[in-house]
Amino acid sequence: MDLKDKKALITGSTDGLGKLLAATLVRKGTQVIIHGRNKEKVENSVKETGASAGVVCDFNVPDGVVGAFSGMGDLDILVNNAGVWLEGNTVDAPPEKILELVNVNLASHLLVTRTLLPKLQKAGFGQILNIVSIAGVEIPSGFYHTIYSAVKFGMQGFTEAMVKEFDNKNLRVMGFYPGGMETKIFEKAGDKYLDHEPWMFDPKESVEAIIFMLTRDEKVNIKRLDLINHLQA
Ligand SMILES: NC(=O)c1ccc[n+]([C@@H]2O[C@H](COP(=O)([O-])OP(=O)(O)OC[C@H]3O[C@@H](n4cnc5c(N)ncnc54)[C@H](OP(=O)(O)O)[C@@H]3O)[C@@H](O)[C@H]2O)c1
Repeated sequence: MDLKDKKALITGSTDGLGKLLAATLVRKGTQVIIHGRNKEKVENSVKETGASAGVVCDFNVPDGVVGAFSGMGDLDILVNNAGVWLEGNTVDAPPEKILELVNVNLASHLLVTRTLLPKLQKAGFGQILNIVSIAGVEIPSGFYHTIYSAVKFGMQGFTEAMVKEFDNKNLRVMGFYPGGMETKIFEKAGDKYLDHEPWMFDPKESVEAIIFMLTRDEKVNIKRLDLINHLQA
């Protein structure tokens, strides 16, 4: 499937995986809409990636989500990508951080998807790709990110249910489940990891995998793709 002239919204595309994916899609001729929480970062990302437009909406305030996205025009592809990280013992998790993870990593994706579904259903062939995480399918031993896993498991459930709901309805729903990537997500959460920890991999690998998923023949659905670093030692 050709992505040229398709219209795609990528949430959380002011940094990391989302921004890299935006720049790659623009090079393929896709009209990309950037989204982020910070107006200046959104404007910069639109310029730097060559995207067509930008939307500013703080996903930690879910009440504003429907209004921010309901005026959007036609859409072929929605990539639900925005996210924040939290790790450590559950007893140490600040309540406001727990709510932020529920809002940003789960609730806002449900609301954006619900708001844009009529547009995607009107597209000749619509696509929804949810960026979940390997933490949304596997619980590691001896290392805790319980709240993050809880909301990412929620995204897995949402994805699997949507795949079933839209079987045979010209709307392809897919889930992408990466392991640790070299982005600033950990630093933003206050964790002191190196830029290149042995368990991480370059987000370019994820971009290539996502492009592969988005360009399959309409009959085919890679409804779930796990991408992990298997040489973590
Ligand atoms: N990096 C990993 O190891 C890894 C592994 C598995 C899955 N993932 C998932 O991959 C996705 C992308 O993460 P990333 O690693 O690329 O992280 P990132 O570089 O920090 O990018 C996250 C994006 O989400 C945006 N965002 C954060 N909070 C937001 C809010 N309240 N409202 C609106 N936008 C918000 C960020 O905006 P700002 O630019 O303003 O920060 C940024 O654009 C996330 O869903 C993450 O859970 C990441």
